[in-house]
Amino acid sequence: MHSLSAFLLSLPVVALAGHGAGVHRRHHHARVAGIAARQTPTAYTLEDDYSGPDFFKGWTFFTDPDPTSGQVNYLSQSDAQAAGLAFVQSNNITKIGVDSTTQLQPGQPRNSVRIATTKTYDSGLFIADFQAMPYGCSVWPAYWTVGGNWPNDGEVDIIEGVNLNVDNQITLHTGPSCLMNEATTMLGSLVGNTCTSSNGANAGCAVVQSGNNSFGQPFNQMGGGVFAHSWTNESISFWFFPRNQVPSDITSMNPNPDSWGTPVANFPTQSSCDLSQHFTGHQIVLDTTLCGDWAGAAFSQDGCPGSCSNFVADPSNFQNAQWAISSIRVYQPSGSQ
Ligand SMILES: *[C@@H]1O[C@H](CO)[C@@H](O)[C@H](O)[C@H]1NC(C)=O
Ligand SMILES: *[C@@H]1O[C@H](CO)[C@@H](O)[C@H](O)[C@H]1NC(C)=O
Ligand SMILES: *[C@@H]1O[C@H](CO)[C@@H](O)[C@H](O)[C@H]1NC(C)=O
Repeated sequence: MHSLSAFLLSLPVVALAGHGAGVHRRHHHARVAGIAARQTPTAYTLEDDYSGPDFFKGWTFFTDPDPTSGQVNYLSQSDAQAAGLAFVQSNNITKIGVDSTTQLQPGQPRNSVRIATTKTYDSGLFIADFQAMPYGCSVWPAYWTVGGNWPNDGEVDIIEGVNLNVDNQITLHTGPSCLMNEATTMLGSLVGNTCTSSNGANAGCAVVQSGNNSFGQPFNQMGGGVFAHSWTNESISFWFFPRNQVPSDITSMNPNPDSWGTPVANFPTQSSCDLSQHFTGHQIVLDTTLCGDWAGAAFSQDGCPGSCSNFVADPSNFQNAQWAISSIRVYQPSGSQ
């Protein structure tokens, strides 16, 4: 688990300036009161399926300097493909990751990949199946969603951690003013309740999972698993399923979140935070950065040797710094489209 000091440095602080992802809508409609309870389980319809040979069709490659000060050089699609850092295997698993062959000078950035969906979302049921995630000293991977105007359009960090962490951290970042004050039932531990973030105070409201298998090496050793989250105006709720516990309604693509039990993290809309006002027009993002504002700051206390900056020079340190993605699927309640 992260120490508080490392946690307070946690990012991403994402200024998406120059991202070229298109114009994000903002909603100005009056909020319609939500319906408190469902009579029957919601049926879902598949809206987008990022998987298989066409995986990269729905994504753009981010090539700006890392906004979180990481020691990486994010490659364009053509450069990443030429370097073997973004490809779909013949078994339909997509790999994106960090260069693990080039010897660098201390302090030089290492090639990596950051991708974002061209499409944006205002809600949905997101189900991501990973065989593996990047891990190791200096490595800081994230699977997240973010609006065009940070922090006012919100950020949802579904998978995030650094160095040798073994428990995933789930975090929301918002503009003013959003506090998670009301008690809620969840499996993880709330480690901060101030979602409101700025460049100077960006810890966000965060939940750390327990179990020592939702992040890093132990996640990969069990063959990965599924991270699912439901984003509505009423709540943003997260579930985690190790590979051998993935529910059949997920594998059959008929998801029924009502059957998934207590979420690992749960952020209900509340008087101190109206979710419908804080989260809009999100791209899905996958990236791996190195060192920077979190992994670099926590490097020594997480048990990593020497300096983070020097560690990046040796390519053999990045054999495990890869995402292996089976699918990322977005569903919407049937009839809502
Ligand atoms: C959620 O709230 C936004 C902003 O008020 C509104 O535009 C949208 O229609 C709401 N979504 C649903 C499903 O009610
Ligand atoms: C990969 O996906 C394609 C398209 O969905 C499918 O036709 C093919 O059979 C899949 N290959 C494997 C090895 O599953
Ligand atoms: C996770 O690891 C810590 C440190 O090794 C240990 O104290 C704790 O009991 C472990 N938790 C679980 C659920 O295995």
